[in-house]
Formats: sequence, structure tokens, C-alpha cells
Amino acid sequence: MSGDSRAIGVFDSGIGGLTVYKALRDLLPREDFLYLGDTARLPYGTKSPETVGRYAVQAARLMMVEDIKLLVIACNTASALALSALQEQLPELPCIGVIEPGAKRTAEISATGRVAVLATESTVRSGAYAAAIARHRPEAKARMLACNLLVALAEEGWCEGAEAEAVIGRYLRLLEPGSFDTLVLGCTHFPLLIPTMRKLIAADIPIVDSAATTAAAVRDHLEGRGLLAERPGQGNSRFWVTDSPERFAKLAPRFLDSDFRLSVNLVDTRFERIPAGG
Ligand code: DGL
Repeated sequence: MSGDSRAIGVFDSGIGGLTVYKALRDLLPREDFLYLGDTARLPYGTKSPETVGRYAVQAARLMMVEDIKLLVIACNTASALALSALQEQLPELPCIGVIEPGAKRTAEISATGRVAVLATESTVRSGAYAAAIARHRPEAKARMLACNLLVALAEEGWCEGAEAEAVIGRYLRLLEPGSFDTLVLGCTHFPLLIPTMRKLIAADIPIVDSAATTAAAVRDHLEGRGLLAERPGQGNSRFWVTDSPERFAKLAPRFLDSDFRLSVNLVDTRFERIPAGG
């Protein structure tokens, strides 16, 4: 077997990163994946850059023990707050966050450059999306909106119906009608709410979901360096969490859009113990 068969690491504050994992696995079925969800310490979406940076570096160090070839930061908040800490403290580990690929796509497809980004409070506060979009399109105007309740709606499975429409509708009304031509989902959980969002916004407004754009960026990175796995069959995936593996396994099908029951292993919060056999 040629190519690089080492696993791709996927890190998230918890379960939402499975939307990114799914896009990666669909695009790169031959790869092995090691997913780590920091379920003991979520939500990241309200935490400070110092804290999220520390958590992300700890998680990355543990995954490096497993010899990952690349780390995908599948969490928007960690991509916004921790990417620079990771690059400074672990320069040998290539990292791809979800913000840059989503911002690039947004800059390319927005008709007028006026876009709205729905995200967590900490991602909004960081200004990371607006800055990344402006790097690709300096005249763009990004309106950022913190939508913390949408994380809970997605985890609860209330993605469609009256409650979802009421909460999503209320957030969208905070954006002036006609003030944006592209809607960016700046949080891992929000892709589950796309069917309801579609009902509430004009049909010609594209919705950018960073999962697919990030998967394409990962493929390009690995392909460009000859690091794609070239095994004949499908790769394997392992799932680690820092708390409540049962809850993760129960909610996972919702994020993966499949009934397959995952086997999930526990690592301790200090990220010092690798699960046996996991
Ligand atoms: N994964 C986080 C994000 O994409 C949402 C959940 C959290 O706040 O931890 O921003």
C-alpha cells in the first residue's frame, strides 16, 4: 500500500463536529479518522480564547501520540479562538480549521458582498469570520449574529416544526430583511437546521455550510502533498470523548444522518489516558 495511511484527527468541543466528520468521510472514504469530542468541557461557544486555546492544545497533543497526519478543527469556536495557539505551540502538526474554507466560499459566491454569519457568542466576539471573509473580499460586509439557542435545538432534535421555526425565525428577524445575500452557518450544529432555515429565507439566498468546504480543503491539502491514504477498501473511524460516551453514541445518528450505532471510548479530561483498544 502506498500513500500515507495515518489517521486524520478531527477535534470538536463535542458532538457537532460530526457534521464535518461526515463530510470528510463521504469525500475521503479510504482515510482512517480519529475523532475527539471534548464533551466534558463543552460548550466552547461561551468561553474565552485562553481557555479554548488551552483545551485545544491539550487535545491535539493527545491525538499526536496516535500519530495523526493532520488535525481538522471541526469546531467553529475552536477554529476562531485556538488555531493560532495550535500553530504556535505545535508547529509540527498541520491544522485546518473550518472558518477559512467557509469564508473563502462565501467570498466567492456572495453577489453583493453583504453576508450574514450565524455562530456562537465566542465566535462572533472573535471577529474571525468577518476577518477571513474580508481577506478574500476586502469590500465585504459580514453581519455576525450569536445564536446560542440553536445549539440546544439541534442537540434536542427539534430541528423542524413550530418550536424550531419560532426560534430560528426570531434570530433571523434580528437581521434586517434584504441586508444579506448569503447566509453562513458558523457553528457545527446549524447544518441540522437547514430545512427549517430554507423555509424562512428567500429561495435565492445560498446557505454556506463549512463542512463540505472544509472536507474539500483537507482533500486538496493531502493530495497536494501525496498524503492521501491509498488502501483498497474503506478506512476505519475511532471516536473518543471526555464524558458521557453513551450520550454521544445516542445523539450521533442525528448528526450523521444514519442509524449506525457508533462505538465511543472515554478519555480523561486532562487528555492523559488513551483508551485501551480504542
Ligand atoms: N462546536 C461549537 C462550534 O462550532 C458549538 C458547540 C459549543 O459551543 O461547544 O462553535
